[in-house]
Amino acid sequence: MSETNVQYTGDGYQAWLGYHRIAPGNVYEQYAALKAITVNENAEVIRTAVTELSRGLQSMLGYEPVVEESGESAGSIVLGTFGNNAIVDRTFAEDTRSAIGPEGFAIKAVKENRSIVIGASTAPGVLYGAFHLLRLMSTGEAVDNLDVVQNPVNQLRMINQWDNIDGSIERGYAGKSIFYKDNRITTDLERVRDYARLLASSGINAISINNVNVHKYETRFLTEAYLPDVAKVAAVFRAYGVKMFLSINYASPLEIGDLTTADPLDPGVREWWRAKAAEVYAAIPDFGGFLVKADSENRPGPFTYDRDHADGSNMLAEAVKPYGGIVIWRCFVYNCKQDWRDRATDRARAAYDHFKPLDGRFMDNVILQVKNGPMDFQVREGVSPLIGAMEQTNQMIEFQITQEYTGQQRHLCYLVPQWKEVLDFETYAKGEGSPIKRIVDGSLYGNRFSGFAAVSNIGDDANWTGHLLAQANLYGYGRLAWNPELTAEAIAEEWIRMTFGGDEQLVRTIRGMLMDSWSIYEDYTSPLGVGWMVNPDHHYGPNVDGYEYSKWGTYHFADCHGIGVDRTMATGTGYTGQYKGPNVEMYESLASCPDELLLFFHHVPYTHVLHSGKTVIQHIYDTHFVGVERAEQLQAKWSELQGSMHEGLHQQVAARLAEQAAHAKEWRDMINTYFFRKSGIADQLGRKIY
Ligand code: GCU
Repeated sequence: MSETNVQYTGDGYQAWLGYHRIAPGNVYEQYAALKAITVNENAEVIRTAVTELSRGLQSMLGYEPVVEESGESAGSIVLGTFGNNAIVDRTFAEDTRSAIGPEGFAIKAVKENRSIVIGASTAPGVLYGAFHLLRLMSTGEAVDNLDVVQNPVNQLRMINQWDNIDGSIERGYAGKSIFYKDNRITTDLERVRDYARLLASSGINAISINNVNVHKYETRFLTEAYLPDVAKVAAVFRAYGVKMFLSINYASPLEIGDLTTADPLDPGVREWWRAKAAEVYAAIPDFGGFLVKADSENRPGPFTYDRDHADGSNMLAEAVKPYGGIVIWRCFVYNCKQDWRDRATDRARAAYDHFKPLDGRFMDNVILQVKNGPMDFQVREGVSPLIGAMEQTNQMIEFQITQEYTGQQRHLCYLVPQWKEVLDFETYAKGEGSPIKRIVDGSLYGNRFSGFAAVSNIGDDANWTGHLLAQANLYGYGRLAWNPELTAEAIAEEWIRMTFGGDEQLVRTIRGMLMDSWSIYEDYTSPLGVGWMVNPDHHYGPNVDGYEYSKWGTYHFADCHGIGVDRTMATGTGYTGQYKGPNVEMYESLASCPDELLLFFHHVPYTHVLHSGKTVIQHIYDTHFVGVERAEQLQAKWSELQGSMHEGLHQQVAARLAEQAAHAKEWRDMINTYFFRKSGIADQLGRKIY
């Protein structure tokens, strides 16, 4: 298939929804047979599906399809929900229909009249079906034999914005917030609408629009000063099947009410939240619920009143329950003032230690949101042992799309392979066959609510994500939440074809770059799972001892003999005991601990020999030299693509890759020098260490 990029601007704003013009040949004939859209329902989300299809077809084929209410014209895309459209009902037999869940869809090509029928049980299902068809077309797939049935694997597929009312974004690396301006919720919702399109097209169905650290003004989102504007934003997302949530401040009854306590067992407090929920649901009847960060990093919470997280979350859950609302309670709870050297308070243990004893005490509309690892979105860390450890509690996983510790969108780091590794991790929670993905999709324990959440990486930069290639992380997250069985390669390929068109060399090159990028970043940054080594506060750039919570001494325990954190039960913090089955022994034993996590679990001498056959110190030197070379190769590969895409797109990525290559050297030199000085051991290859 040949393509042109003529309708493209070079800023990347259209992201993967640019729908490249398709030139005659191959599949074009099949696509061009589609001249009409037939729809007889008027639900808002179905109207969205029609608009999206018209827009996509027009862009790819150069003409606008006719939209008609009925008729059996040849070459029509027929859209509808079961029981409401005769063509849809005729096309899909009862067994297909009953296999389609609330957001699933079926698509079938009808050969006789070259039509395509999309059927679903709900309007959002129709929209997902429309986006699926558009994805197939914009990646050059044949559509003349379609017979597809899909349901999302995960029920909640959520995005968390960490945006503040002043327009800043906590850990945002792509400009300012698109939601807030001049300390108000923006009234120009055009960009928010375009964001809703991006999210829905990748399968997202929920969003919380304010930072989990809720400050003074965002606390007031629950008051009439802000609720009407929140409702307007909710309306934009509603048209795309995306439900609105808000992060709330646990101390709201004190901050915006006139109570003197936020004690969850106080009847006045419970009544206050019930009334507040009523107000919110009056403004936004399909409001999703509250997202809560409590008793963590100086946020208020039930601990103040000697209550626990079950007391705290249940009180809120009770308030939203009459409306079908849910409470998403974050498990990122640890004492940020703790002494790293105190083995009994290993931060990695914190979430499990806090929450595991509470299993069985949470209401069924509470979901615990657990970060993928026990620390904080490091380039490499163990998988959180809390996920799967609470049989009677709804859980969802939290990823970080924004690249706080993985290069802040100045470096390339395609995170889907990392997330896949986490999702495929065998927890043994219920014996063999208990991977993380089966816990968070709710199937292992039959949870009522479950799913994915992730911190967004977008801002008001023209290309949304700062680094154009970081769009692949946003897209990939949505796709993985829809179906965790998709491979990282397949997701990358879809994204590349949709974003840049189908030039085969371009697809191969960018796919290779994306797939290599996580390991490249890991090579030149923090080694063997030890984590951090970043500058305090902003977390960008190398600083081996610099992590802000290391004021009591180095958190990695590096001295002249060795490095690493002993988290064994035998001699360390006992964290390994939080895992289940064979994982306990795998991590506990130096002999079986995987190399890439060695320093996360063990303190070893620099001369310790890895499974790879190298010593720890030589591994550090080698990966840091190689990491720089590989970062330079990324630049070289990208330069080969000049001319095969809009020059503007090419240039913006080239500039980021140049910065990455230069910055990788700084990492290499800082890390290698530090460990050369600490260990006094020379590089076996005699390379110069600065
Ligand atoms: C990290 C991050 C903070 C954030 C916190 C959280 O610590 O650096 O900015 O608030 O995670 O997830 O709550």
